[in-house]
Amino acid sequence: MSGCQVDPNTIRPIRFFNGNCQMLDQRLLPAEEVWLDYSDHQGVAEAIRSMVVRGAPAIGVAAAIGAWFGARDIDCASSEEFFAEFEKVCALLAATRPTAVNLFWALERMKSFARANLDRSVLELKIGLEFEALAIIQEDEQLCKKLGRKGEPLLPDGARVLTHCNAGALATGGYGTALGVIRAAVAAGKKISVIADETRPFLQGSRLTAWELQKDNIPVTLICDNMAGYLMAKGEIDCVIVGADRIAANGDVANKIGTYTVAILAKEHNLPFYVAAPLSTIDLSLSDGSLIPIEERDAREITHLKGIQLAPEGIAVRNPAFDVTPNRLVTAIITERGVVQGNYLQQLAELAAD
Ligand code: MRU
Repeated sequence: MSGCQVDPNTIRPIRFFNGNCQMLDQRLLPAEEVWLDYSDHQGVAEAIRSMVVRGAPAIGVAAAIGAWFGARDIDCASSEEFFAEFEKVCALLAATRPTAVNLFWALERMKSFARANLDRSVLELKIGLEFEALAIIQEDEQLCKKLGRKGEPLLPDGARVLTHCNAGALATGGYGTALGVIRAAVAAGKKISVIADETRPFLQGSRLTAWELQKDNIPVTLICDNMAGYLMAKGEIDCVIVGADRIAANGDVANKIGTYTVAILAKEHNLPFYVAAPLSTIDLSLSDGSLIPIEERDAREITHLKGIQLAPEGIAVRNPAFDVTPNRLVTAIITERGVVQGNYLQQLAELAAD
């Protein structure tokens, strides 16, 4: 048994307050724990764009809340008119970040609800959309816990697990996907330790993964991204587990920039490379990963750190926020409905159809 005291119910990135919501400003962690208030869809859109809230499932949850706020503020008499305005609200939220498919999944779920209930009054539609948003939030944490239980048998007692970016409670409605599997393994009595890549340039590993694991008393060691190969070669890592922003029908995985490099290193060192993601992250409409839109973010994320200049003025910069790991490098994909390995094209379609 490990000595960890896990209370996975403590960390959630979004909370409710008098019909409005508050989001933990993830840009300021771990130095400051600041909750920001949101009560309209424009504010929520800006929170997603500026990464107050981030991580694929959490972005989906936030978008659902934003859509509900937007719906609440629409002032019109007919349901048809309401739906036309609601589509504009959803379009604004959809234009925030392009890669995590959970954003579009959540908005589509909200729109489908409204579309299917156009025979109801505007007031009924607004109330229904509030319930739909709340359902998305609650389901997300439950899905992560289910996913964790499905995946934890893959982690042996004593495993030293490398993770990249933050796929934890902060990136979801609560509990986490990759970190959810780790939390479930710890809850099952296994002694697990985590090696967290710092994850340049936004530092989700050092600022967020290290913070939330430390809060849960799960042993975590921080490394710079370029140290993973050295530790693998020294036999200090037993497996890799990461989250995903979008998984194509063939099992190619878009995740935080640097994930692909880690997957190649894992292959070279014969280490399992696991991806943990809910079904809402699987995009069966895209046949392979080359079709996944990859967000390019501001050069300043690379040239500056908290206002301090790290690179020469005017330097050319590339800042792709995600990369695609081809399915051949993925040992297994862990979802809330089960673990798939091998023929992803067939198995992911079967899982989604269940
Ligand atoms: O740019 P971010 O911080 O939103 O990127 C997050 C990631 O890449 C996560 O690994 C992914 O969304 C999975 S979160 C459960």
